[in-house]
Amino acid sequence: MKFISKSLKETAEAAKKILRQVSAEPRSKATVAALYGDLGSGKTALVQEVGKLLGIKEPIQSPTFVIMKRFEILASSEPKRGQKDLRFKSLMHIDAYRLEQASELEKLGWKEIISNEENLIFIEWPERVGKILPSGTLKVYLKFLDEKTREISFGEE
Ligand SMILES: Nc1ncnc2c1ncn2[C@@H]1O[C@H](COP(=O)(O)OP(=O)(O)OP(=O)(O)O)[C@@H](O)[C@H]1O
Ligand SMILES: [Mg+2]
Repeated sequence: MKFISKSLKETAEAAKKILRQVSAEPRSKATVAALYGDLGSGKTALVQEVGKLLGIKEPIQSPTFVIMKRFEILASSEPKRGQKDLRFKSLMHIDAYRLEQASELEKLGWKEIISNEENLIFIEWPERVGKILPSGTLKVYLKFLDEKTREISFGEE
């Protein structure tokens, strides 16, 4: 699927579609979405919109220095989820930009994190840790077209 987004509002529409797609797939492990795209292509902006849809109130910023941030998805935000049966309890936001190798993510408990079906994981700069992304990872590609316009495409490998 390919979208052209001309505003954050339209990026929120793409976030909604991504969320709908990953929620529809029954899984026994975590759901991982890899966000590919240059600096400023809108990876963090997309995660921020996902966060809003999941009722997360805390500000979501690029976790460049902490690498990984976990946000709790409260049951009370259910109506905002847009679907009744969403199983995710945590949104994990990872920025692999500063990682030099996949083993650094493993030190942060990656194996355990991806084995929990209640985790919804968005990872920026996934090419840094490519080899340890689980099979079934949703690949999302973002492109800067102009100041206000981004191309967002996704589909399972
Ligand atoms: N249509 C759009 N969709 C998303 N973001 C947009 C759009 N138009 C403008 N922007 C702006 O583009 C910027 C995207 O920055 P963002 O931090 O999300 O990029 P990033 O891909 O996460 O970069 P980095 O690799 O540095 O983490 C934001 O300032 C956002 O407001
Ligand atoms: Mg970012």
